[in-house]
Amino acid sequence: MAIPGVAPAAYARRMTPHPPVDSAAGAAVKAADRAHVFHSWSAQGLIDPLAVAGAEGSYFWDYDGNRYLDFTSGLVYTNIGYQHPTVVAAIQEQAGKMTTFAPAFAIEARSEAARLIAERTPGDLDKIFFTNGGAEAVENAVRMARLHTGRTKVLSAYRSYHGATSTAINLTGDPRRWASDNGSAGVVRFWAPFLYRSPFYAQTEAEECARALQHLEDTLAYEGPSTIAAIILETIPGTAGIMTPPPGYLGGVREICDRYGIVFVLDEVMAGFGRTGKWFAADHFDVTPDLMTFAKGVNSGYVPLGGVAISAEIAATFDTRPYPGGLTYSGHPLACAAAVATIHVMEDEKVIENAARIGESVLGPGLRELAENHPSVGEVRGLGAFWALELVRNKETREPLVPYNATGEANAPMAAFGAAAKKNGLWPFINMNRTHAVPACNVSEAEAKEGLAALDAALTVADRHTA
Ligand SMILES: Cc1ncc(COP(=O)(O)O)c(C=O)c1O
Repeated sequence: MAIPGVAPAAYARRMTPHPPVDSAAGAAVKAADRAHVFHSWSAQGLIDPLAVAGAEGSYFWDYDGNRYLDFTSGLVYTNIGYQHPTVVAAIQEQAGKMTTFAPAFAIEARSEAARLIAERTPGDLDKIFFTNGGAEAVENAVRMARLHTGRTKVLSAYRSYHGATSTAINLTGDPRRWASDNGSAGVVRFWAPFLYRSPFYAQTEAEECARALQHLEDTLAYEGPSTIAAIILETIPGTAGIMTPPPGYLGGVREICDRYGIVFVLDEVMAGFGRTGKWFAADHFDVTPDLMTFAKGVNSGYVPLGGVAISAEIAATFDTRPYPGGLTYSGHPLACAAAVATIHVMEDEKVIENAARIGESVLGPGLRELAENHPSVGEVRGLGAFWALELVRNKETREPLVPYNATGEANAPMAAFGAAAKKNGLWPFINMNRTHAVPACNVSEAEAKEGLAALDAALTVADRHTA
């Protein structure tokens, strides 16, 4: 449902141009936060969370009159932007009708969300197990794979993130795992392709693909293929750096999985639901996994929702044998109503086509131009509304602008870049030596250009740290 007289892409620009100032209210919000909210991934005494007063479309604003263009989409999940009126109305309507109901029953919003998702997932992924978010989706996908195969080991990639619950964090291939790396029994990590920092000394995409597949074959041979339940990969790794796999890689992994009876799990929690300019990133590679996890963009995170899309063969394993897993809020009606409305919005307003077009004609060319003009930009990669800039001290050596997992003084160049972006009205996504341009998928051309201009200004600060 569109708002009469308002072109879809214009929702994001309808917001109050000058957000109201109420610094006292902001200070109270901040004080209660600091006193009582225990924040994720943080040293509690070292953080200074911004008090946010409101958000609409691609923007949010604080209590002091500052407005930011959100180039992070929250944590890469508000694919249709903030406060989309159609989805807000659908949540309100569902709340009036049936706010909640236990998962064992057939509920209209749940049935409809499952139908709409299953119709859009690739191949025969036609059954949906709902969770409250991405990590729970990964937990359940792994459980299904283990039960289906009767094997326990799971292969995952370095340079990956799969969530913060016990299994999901142990599958994760970045430093967020280290502190909880005590339950990895059965997890084996391998290197997935990434030509810019090739673990295989490859010079071309074709070499990288062939060597990465050989490395996976070798890892399997030494682990014992008959002991492996699943291989899990982010279709396009997100937080780890938006590394689109070379042509043939995912198809090659599919073939390896088929050969050894291994379940192929694609994690589309971040890359799914329009982010890459298609419904799912897997659609770019014409590959169908056995299990696919999703969350975030399924309903733009308006109400927590995630899930696993399950192939016919794996679903059949649990036709007469109970699936030993469940969640009180599995398929929560409010979350499912938000998903139904979000999927309709994406279609009615051509949000996915917008992401593809903005990627091809604005973000891609604009970011590549920034790379030409700034010594600190080593590589630009991505597609749709899913882009990464690799910041380096030196383009020739590709030395990262800050060391891997740097903190404090060692991370100062990235901190300075981030502060400069914010000063220019852009809220940047920063991870290690990278900044990602991951706006809402319905970002307008003008907003994308505004973001590019702010990045341009902030990169001059990063340039000062090049050698
Ligand atoms: C690829 C991927 N998988 C799983 C997760 C975990 O999702 P959640 O934070 O909803 O548990 C994330 C979160 O960023 C993700 O990017």
